[in-house]
Amino acid sequence: MSVLPGRFIVFEGLDGAGTTTQAQLLAERLRGRGRTVHLAHQPSEGPVGLVIRQILAGRAATPQADGKLGMVDERVMALLFAADRLDHLDSQIEPRVARGEDVILDRYILSSLAYQGASVSHDFIQAANRYARKADLTLFLYVPAAIALERVKQRGAKLERYETPQQMQQIEREYNRLVGTLASVVSIDGTRPIHEVAEACAGAVQQQLG
Ligand SMILES: Nc1ncnc2c1ncn2[C@@H]1O[C@H](COP(=O)(O)OP(=O)(O)OP(=O)(O)O)[C@@H](O)[C@H]1O
Ligand SMILES: [Mg+2]
Repeated sequence: MSVLPGRFIVFEGLDGAGTTTQAQLLAERLRGRGRTVHLAHQPSEGPVGLVIRQILAGRAATPQADGKLGMVDERVMALLFAADRLDHLDSQIEPRVARGEDVILDRYILSSLAYQGASVSHDFIQAANRYARKADLTLFLYVPAAIALERVKQRGAKLERYETPQQMQQIEREYNRLVGTLASVVSIDGTRPIHEVAEACAGAVQQQLG
């Protein structure tokens, strides 16, 4: 008997937009309806994902010719994210979708376009990601940069690469520009209370994917 493929649902948004919170709530809701759900994030827990996390946290950098440590170049970041994505897709996501599980992913290709797109051409990023399958549905949680950054600061942990007001605003602009052009992305007001955002996400899944 052939198995119906599962749904591949992605959450996107600025740091602090609530993607982790909402991915978790959607997973619980779908499980409550009897679906098997795999919840994951990118950068992944795979080998390339771990390197990316070290760089984002400022624990890994690039030794320069002058002997100092420098920022890892944005083009290299774009390639690392794309490599992690393929590794994660092949090893964790594709096999699960094929056997009928739903996969909910916290960040995907749109993050690369929004975060690296400020300094790297979209053609380069798209080419690096050309073998990554399209998500069935992307839920973009819209939260203005200032509010998102406030939430990130409440975390109390050290701020990461990309978590400055200027960069967050730039990423917000990139996201807004992209989201308007893509039919498979539903934009959701992420400034509302958590349970209301969760309702809106569940409604979008029901409407778009049944
Ligand atoms: N709708 C909301 N209203 C108010 N606070 C929220 C809302 N959604 C999430 N938060 C809070 O904001 C913080 C960030 O949420 P969360 O970790 O889900 O965001 P994220 O997008 O995954 O961020 P990160 O970039 O840190 O992974 C958490 O403290 C969370 O409880
Ligand atoms: Mg998160």
